[in-house]
Amino acid sequence: MTTSTAFHGASLELRNLTLAYGPIEVLRNVSLSIEPGTTTCIIGPSGSGKSTLLRGINRLHEPKNGDVLLAGRSVLKDKPDALRLRIGMVFQHFNLFPDHSALENVALAPWKVKGRPKAEAMEIARQRLAEVGLAQRADHRPRDLSGGQQQRVAIARALAMEPEVMLFDEATSALDPELVKGVLTLMAELCQRGMTMVVVTHEMGFARRVADQVVFMDEGEIVEAGTPEQIFERPQSARLQRFLSEVL
Ligand SMILES: Nc1ncnc2c1ncn2[C@@H]1O[C@H](COP(=O)(O)OP(=O)(O)OP(=O)(O)O)[C@@H](O)[C@H]1O
Ligand SMILES: [Mg+2]
Repeated sequence: MTTSTAFHGASLELRNLTLAYGPIEVLRNVSLSIEPGTTTCIIGPSGSGKSTLLRGINRLHEPKNGDVLLAGRSVLKDKPDALRLRIGMVFQHFNLFPDHSALENVALAPWKVKGRPKAEAMEIARQRLAEVGLAQRADHRPRDLSGGQQQRVAIARALAMEPEVMLFDEATSALDPELVKGVLTLMAELCQRGMTMVVVTHEMGFARRVADQVVFMDEGEIVEAGTPEQIFERPQSARLQRFLSEVL
């Protein structure tokens, strides 16, 4: 890594968060505290509500009940667009602009969304790309990058907005196995530099090694939350024990 800007991760607090699709509640009364600069990994079976939880945090999905506090203040008080400048999100599929270079993909957000002068946005983009190890690939189009490199561009793009929290939804699931490690290493670095991260992942090794807190969800509820040691070495509920026996 060429540089290591420190981040100023914010705290997050979920209070009795309930999210529904129409009449069906897929997340019920979820409460969770996340300290600034820590990493929380969310694990659980398919359909348990992990992605919905992330979408509730940045209001891609409006809560039916409850609240989310970002740095102690309700996210419902911000306009959703303003909120998404403060909470970056990285998905399984990178959604880069195919006709723009890696550098332009990263620069577009600070330039067009944040209104920074173009030259300054390009400078920020160069810096962020260097931090994710892609200084030499700045002029490549997405199709000329590997999946892992594209995902690192997507992470650089989110970081260019200087977010206070980063949400990752299975950011490595679409990658070939040999590319996963580079992206996970980058995510672990962000954590060390003080970013607040909420990471939905199937990578139990990553959760065990990097997480400050692991949250196990099932059927729209948090069943257990604790340190990696508590969750992986001393699971309490039959549901978590069964889940771990299937994935480990
Ligand atoms: N747009 C939608 N409309 C209706 N129901 C939905 C919608 N999106 C998700 N659901 C339902 O909400 C529940 C939670 O889905 P969610 O995508 O949050 O699960 P997940 O834990 O992320 O699963 P996976 O590990 O497969 O990604 C599921 O029962 C799902 O079918
Ligand atoms: Mg999901």
